[in-house]
Amino acid sequence: MQGVSSLDELTAVRDKYLSRQRGVLALEMRKLGSLPSAERPAAGQLLNRLKGVVTEELERFQEELKSSANAVRLKTEFLDVSLPGFPYPEGKIHPIRRVWREMEEIFVRMGFSVETGPQIESDYYNFEALNIPKGHPARDDQDTLYISDNLVLRTHTSPVQIRTMEGKEPPIRIIAPGRVYRRDAVDATHSPMFHQIEGLVVDEGITMADLKGSLEAFFQQLFSPDTKIRMRPSYFPFVEPGAEVDVSCIFCSGKGCRVCKGSGWIEILGAGMVHPKVFSMVGYDPEKYTGFAWGMGIDRIAILKYQVEDLRLFFENDIRFLSQF
Ligand code: DAH
Repeated sequence: MQGVSSLDELTAVRDKYLSRQRGVLALEMRKLGSLPSAERPAAGQLLNRLKGVVTEELERFQEELKSSANAVRLKTEFLDVSLPGFPYPEGKIHPIRRVWREMEEIFVRMGFSVETGPQIESDYYNFEALNIPKGHPARDDQDTLYISDNLVLRTHTSPVQIRTMEGKEPPIRIIAPGRVYRRDAVDATHSPMFHQIEGLVVDEGITMADLKGSLEAFFQQLFSPDTKIRMRPSYFPFVEPGAEVDVSCIFCSGKGCRVCKGSGWIEILGAGMVHPKVFSMVGYDPEKYTGFAWGMGIDRIAILKYQVEDLRLFFENDIRFLSQF
């Protein structure tokens, strides 16, 4: 096999001797027929032995070639597994969605379950069942986007309260996060689509102290353990009494700064004790059950948490802004 240094060359040698058509051995075999019959067996045996020897030798040589080729590859194809990987561009959770999840997780830890409802809602669920009958002035506060006379893009997450109570009996302890819509012009603090998390707790003996305690526990986990809340009387048709809830400013801890405009408090949500009329609408006995509810803006909390000055940044999908979260 001298002079053979590659598998290609080896194949050429194999063809030369062993090819069925043109190989030296094949040609010799064919000549056997013209030998005197007495000589044929011996000559045939000889040729077969020769074939065996050649085949064996070729195989042995092939193994040798392969292992030396492997040795060369092992030497040259060195893989450094300690090199850093390729920096593939990775997606991120949108900041609104991050805050949404964080809020949801806190409430779930507190024992709330998560409900959802349709974004296209009927007049009944969005208004009527929440004690906002036709002609009620509260309808004007919420610039509604109508789909038809009877269908609206929900203006708040409160209709999920009704859907939940219609579907089951107390005790109820739910949150309902989602998108809501209003006919608002876009500016730094307004968007025609934004997000809310509704809360609803109904059972026997629920009081306003439970409302305050739950919300305070929530904000202490979301912001910091020393966060306080305060409630101011307010009006929402579906609760009585109703309250506006403020949290102590998360930037100055209540001392007064630019964000809280020196007051030490930031207005953050609406809440109250579920109105007996709402209970009657869903067939709950208002003499037996009491409950509280709230509705808070996710976007507003994201703005505070991340100190983003302009709500529009969240919805313009500029990757330079979004990749910072
Ligand atoms: N639905 C009200 C809004 O969007 C917020 C709200 C206020 C929800 C008081 C409540 C509540 O559940 O009790 O403006």
